Amino acid sequence: MSDQIASPEKGGLERALVLLQAGRPIAIPTETVYGLGADAANADAVARIYALKERPTFNPLIAHCASIDTAFEQGRATPGAELLASTFWPGPLTLVLDIHPSCTVCSLARSGLDTIAVRVPAHPITANLLKRFGRPIVAPSANPSGRISPTRPEHVAADFGDRIELILDGGPCEAGLESTIIDARGEVPVLLRQGPIPAAEIDAIWPGLKSDMTAPDAPRAPGQLLRHYAPKAALRLNATKAHPDEVLLGFGTVEGDVSLSQSGDLIEAAAKLFDQLRTLDEKTDRIAVAPIPNAGIGAAINDRLNRAAETK
Ligand code: TXA
Ligand code: MG
Repeated sequence: MSDQIASPEKGGLERALVLLQAGRPIAIPTETVYGLGADAANADAVARIYALKERPTFNPLIAHCASIDTAFEQGRATPGAELLASTFWPGPLTLVLDIHPSCTVCSLARSGLDTIAVRVPAHPITANLLKRFGRPIVAPSANPSGRISPTRPEHVAADFGDRIELILDGGPCEAGLESTIIDARGEVPVLLRQGPIPAAEIDAIWPGLKSDMTAPDAPRAPGQLLRHYAPKAALRLNATKAHPDEVLLGFGTVEGDVSLSQSGDLIEAAAKLFDQLRTLDEKTDRIAVAPIPNAGIGAAINDRLNRAAETK
């Protein structure tokens, strides 16, 4: 489809609004990764997203909202949630809250839970789309369930072909890793998924951060599954040299066949990670990855690499 990837100026925004209104999924850019978006209140549209992604319906979606105020009409604010929202929204942070009595997100998108994940994205194209649409848009990452998230419109086209009518072109994603998820219902914040906002930055705003990211037996968020974000190739981590049958993904002083960042910049590495994993996955069955320092966003990069390297 030649007009599948469209910029908002070239009619993409108007087409996006028509398709959302008609209950048809579209791909939308965010500052983290591309999402597969649908009208959060329309259960048929939401069912199409689960089918497209082959996502288990017990795995709830994130509701994307135009503003802090509209997000807190979906999920019930807590003092901690308000602190984090005023600091990090719009931006790559998702808050899990109790549903508000005025919540319009359909039960299917919430997997029937009485909690809801909400976020106010910063990408200007999707921020504008949300404002124009006037209602929350649920959007999981636009990849088949369990695989690598897309950070460019071409990734979405490669994964779904003509099963998706429109991919709003917002260029390459700035952060490149999915949002940090915090359960903000209690007295202290609970980290459910590492992401572009490091744990230390959350803790500095709302102290007492606890972690709950492994739970392999009863995952609350499938991002918590041991194996997730997986390429088809086998991954070997903390490698300083490639074995003869491997391609090496370098970082800093470890020169690879390609590099996440030659200057050792973790922000650049996060933005490139999924794109380079996808490219290497097409070329080889074995990828070796250089050591990545755990500082700042490095923790989230290592989280994704560890899950991608899991064999079970
Ligand atoms: O950056 C992002 O968050 C991207 C962009 C498109 O916004 N979206 C994204 O969605 O990563 P998804 O569906 O791939 O991951 C959302 C995660 C899932 O692991 C899901 O289980 C969890 O959020 N989640 C959603 N609702 C939840 C809830 N009520 N309680 C706990 N976890 C929840
Ligand atoms: Mg995902």
